[in-house]
Amino acid sequence: MAKNYTVADVVNIDSDSDSDDDNGGVIGMVPSLASLIENQKVSIADAATVAPRETLECRSFWKAGENFVIPSSVTLTAPGMVEHARVHPKFLHSNATSHKWAFGAIAELLDNAVDEIQNGATVVKIDKINIVKDNTPALVFQDNGGGMDPNGIRKCMSLGYSSKKSNTTIGQYGNGFKTSTMRLGADAMVFSRSTRGGKSTQSIGLLSYTFLRKTGQDDVIVPMIDFDISSDSPQPIIYGSPGDWSTNLNILLKWSPFSTMVELLQQFEDIGTHGTKVIIYNLWLNDEGIYELSFDDDDVDIRLRDENAQDGKRLHAKTLEVRSHISYRYRHSLRAYISMLYLKKFKNFKIILRGVSVAQFNIADEFRHPETIMYKPQAAAVDYAATGIKVGFIKEAPKLPICCFNVYHKNRLIRPFWKVVLEGSTRGNGVVGVLEANFIEPAHDKQDFERSSLFLRLEARLKRITSDYWQNHCHIFGYQTAQIPADKSKRTVIPDQPPTVNTYNPSPLPSDRISHGGPIIREINLSNATSSPTAAVAAPHLRNYTGLRNNFQPVQLNPQPPAAGDTGNNLVGKSAAEIREENLQLFMRCEEYVKKENEVEQTVKSLEKELEEVKSKCAQLALLVDAKKKEMQQV
Ligand SMILES: Nc1ncnc2c1ncn2[C@@H]1O[C@H](COP(=O)(O)OP(=O)(O)OP(=O)(O)O)[C@@H](O)[C@H]1O
Ligand SMILES: [Mg+2]
Repeated sequence: MAKNYTVADVVNIDSDSDSDDDNGGVIGMVPSLASLIENQKVSIADAATVAPRETLECRSFWKAGENFVIPSSVTLTAPGMVEHARVHPKFLHSNATSHKWAFGAIAELLDNAVDEIQNGATVVKIDKINIVKDNTPALVFQDNGGGMDPNGIRKCMSLGYSSKKSNTTIGQYGNGFKTSTMRLGADAMVFSRSTRGGKSTQSIGLLSYTFLRKTGQDDVIVPMIDFDISSDSPQPIIYGSPGDWSTNLNILLKWSPFSTMVELLQQFEDIGTHGTKVIIYNLWLNDEGIYELSFDDDDVDIRLRDENAQDGKRLHAKTLEVRSHISYRYRHSLRAYISMLYLKKFKNFKIILRGVSVAQFNIADEFRHPETIMYKPQAAAVDYAATGIKVGFIKEAPKLPICCFNVYHKNRLIRPFWKVVLEGSTRGNGVVGVLEANFIEPAHDKQDFERSSLFLRLEARLKRITSDYWQNHCHIFGYQTAQIPADKSKRTVIPDQPPTVNTYNPSPLPSDRISHGGPIIREINLSNATSSPTAAVAAPHLRNYTGLRNNFQPVQLNPQPPAAGDTGNNLVGKSAAEIREENLQLFMRCEEYVKKENEVEQTVKSLEKELEEVKSKCAQLALLVDAKKKEMQQV
């Protein structure tokens, strides 16, 4: 039967004191570690004889929140303590599901190290180690930042506490450590050293989903121990009684990869005078029962499985080319993702992945025909500073169908390769942009932005920037360039069509032009047109049996003023800017509908699947009933 630790035994995750007092208000010096061991309060022997480390039955992250036995009542608060709301261990798991993508979780832990640059950090190392106890892989993140004192480590392990108040830090929500560690593995240990107010301390904390589940806790309990290391030998810092301290230590030893206190303390040896080491173990498996993160495919990288890999199958050369581009590679290669994660090049800071430093990469540095467009976001009440949007052709343009934006927030990549234009259109091929958008707020997983009106406006602007850039530069690759008509009132837009009897002859396409995809919009100058200005006719191959392609509408080249009572979309009297804005709005609405259509299609598919399953179950049941009936008749 699992032992029920009481709140007084160990430090509770939501019982953090907000006091900045060096002693956290409750920390007192107690007998030395040696005397505790001598007096059998802390038993190294005990720790060494603990049972082999236990793991959860379910090791797949997406299923690890199931089958909780929720108690009908919560444990009463210990006498003398103020009642407070509890955080059930299930929440640790559900909170972590905000990270759909494991690399997004890794980025959070790197952010915490990067935020330590202001406290002297010069390096963060990410590595894979092997846990000797059970020969399993674990992830290690280690930085040489300011580290955490006993109060700081409690903030780190608590939900929603952030020490970051400055406008320059990436961290802001006080949640990243918890969501990211619990997304990567079932258990995480923190070792941190710091010097504050002339006192040097080292602390160890354990956030263990395995411990919480296996011992049936109904509250998130986080065992921690601290030492004063100002003198030669580490002195335990005790909050309550030596007994509490030893309870914490015993839980740490039982549920950690380390069997003795000596092994625990050894973890500080490579930390130096200040810094933090996070070890994540019992890494999650995927639904197929294999580790989600792969360490074997590349010795100096960490990889995620590529579901599209089609192992063994020969891929089209074009597909291979697209997959070797960083816009695809970053999804499966941590090294590729981290190389773009921070916009500005670090001056005195390195990210070392499995022993090899990660070279920073900004795709804008490779742009051909680069341009910077200033964008000044405006909200009803606030005027934000203008930001420069760098836009250009990637070096592989226009061959690769890549058209997107890398959007950063406070130096951190939030939306990698965001496609703002509809997929399938050749218009915009090879046009990529990079910008830092500090005026919009990242979502909690820091992989997307909140859908504010500023965000929607930015999206619309990026669409327009792509379109304008393409319009002005596509001639470089031999695409039809837009003609500026002499008389704007006689300008119209027609879909890209093969030559027809009464329109115009587009110039032949260059051989490398990608001919698949959506329609290319060309503008024609009517003053040069030789045909009748009343209607365009679809090319023969686009006509259906009625003579015209279903969605082909004759274009009236000289729009007449609408008849009285016409409530149609009247463009007469509107400025070009207004028409363009309206066009953009319609374009966005159209995209929304396409998205909705896809969603509805998905729902229909899953309902159909469900229906099939139910039908086959029904059939099976009918057979069973028949068999039973026959059995009964025979009896
Ligand atoms: N590597 C580290 N070095 C020093 N302090 C750290 C480190 N990692 C976490 N902390 C401390 O723990 C606190 C909580 O970290 P956490 O990542 O959960 O939140 P945050 O970084 O403040 O905000 P966000 O949720 O946006 O990431 C931080 O505010 C910081 O004080
Ligand atoms: Mg953080």
